[in-house]
Amino acid sequence: MEKFVIHGGRPLRGEVSISGAKNAVVAILPATILADDVCRIENIPNISDVTYMVRILKQIGAGVRVINKHILEIDASTVHSFTVPDELTKHMRASYYLIGALLGRYHQARVSMPGGCDLGIRPIDQHIKGFEFLGADVNIENAMVNVRAEKLIGSSIYMDVVSVGATVNIMLAAVKARGLTVIENAAKEPHIVDLANFLNSMGADVRGAGTDVIKIHGVEQLHGCTYSIIPDQIEAGTYMVAAGATKGDVLVKNVIPKHLESISAKLEECGLEVTEYDDSIRVRYVGKLSKCNIKTMPHPGFPTDMQPQMSVLLSLASGTSIVSENVSDNRYRYVAQLTRMGANVQVDGKVAVIEGVRELTGAPVKADDLRAGAAMLIAGLAAEGTTEIENIQHIDRGYEDVVEKFSALGADIVRRDYPDAVVEKAV
Ligand code: EPU
Repeated sequence: MEKFVIHGGRPLRGEVSISGAKNAVVAILPATILADDVCRIENIPNISDVTYMVRILKQIGAGVRVINKHILEIDASTVHSFTVPDELTKHMRASYYLIGALLGRYHQARVSMPGGCDLGIRPIDQHIKGFEFLGADVNIENAMVNVRAEKLIGSSIYMDVVSVGATVNIMLAAVKARGLTVIENAAKEPHIVDLANFLNSMGADVRGAGTDVIKIHGVEQLHGCTYSIIPDQIEAGTYMVAAGATKGDVLVKNVIPKHLESISAKLEECGLEVTEYDDSIRVRYVGKLSKCNIKTMPHPGFPTDMQPQMSVLLSLASGTSIVSENVSDNRYRYVAQLTRMGANVQVDGKVAVIEGVRELTGAPVKADDLRAGAAMLIAGLAAEGTTEIENIQHIDRGYEDVVEKFSALGADIVRRDYPDAVVEKAV
């Protein structure tokens, strides 16, 4: 079993370069199924969610050529299977994008219910509603989602909740449908815009992405293209918060500052100095960390995927901060770990009350999910003493070269492999 071992308490200083966005690439890789020829995708993050998605694409027949660890050429014209079984979907939520992509291209798909972070119930009713409005029959049997359509016809779909996944899936299913599809109350996240830009580079006609009304005029054919993935908003935010929590000074490079506005604003409210450049942001500790309140919201609100990391910073800020989690049902599991390190956090339903403490102390902890794991990294880097984090496979799903990047900023962090027998003895 692998763990991260961190000797904390060192301010992070220096520069870090941000990788391509996980939540964009996991939508764009399945979208290549819609093209008639080769798509070259650049700035792909080297993370395990990409490995899983590439495995699925190969399994259903796509040709994948690795140019280097950040560039892939995908020829999905050879796809011959429309079934994606559980052993391939259980690792990641985004495997359900295969449903929209296969439906859009081949009018049929049979995909096992998705895995991914355990953030609560995570229903897919809005995805199903969208497929049905486009003319597909949908049924779920033995945890397999079966969709089939004689033909797909554009439709007007009002989403009852703002859902990133449902917006992506409906876009994928609709780009080749006959006529106009309108998605109302659509998600507006940067990765939605990135997917729309990718689809348009393949010859689609998608307008309005980034607003809450997306209009898609169906086209008959989509062709291959070359496309570069946007930088990861949440990876960038994680390094920004880590700079603040460790009282450091970090230039976070290769970012789109506009995507980080809600995070920058909160860090400034906490007393950090945040300086924006064209494609980088510097976060500097200038002698104080003060409380602030956070409410998570769909974009452009404060992202739920930054709530755990930000709560670590607030646990070290003077005063009492209130955090309201309005997007996910189950996003406070990391609190049990954080309190082992000396944080003072009370959770009641969707609200966490954080009383700042002077310092955190290192402890053995675990990553309950991807962003909970990112929170543990920041806590370990900020804490006095040694922190060992287990279940780090969650962190590897979404953070490229996390040890190398933090080490280059002066952190004392290593990945250590513990033979399972030794781990069992220690427990
Ligand atoms: N929801 C429904 N019905 C649906 C779909 C969603 O009620 O059919 C609800 C969910 O239960 C949730 C809310 O709507 O309460 C938002 O869910 P959404 O569909 O937007 O989330 P998702 O698509 O499953 C993506 C990201 C998550 C991120 C959320 C929210 C990907 C692959 N995943 O999930 O990212 O937390 O949006 O922004 O894009 C992460 O990167 O760590 C991660 C978990």
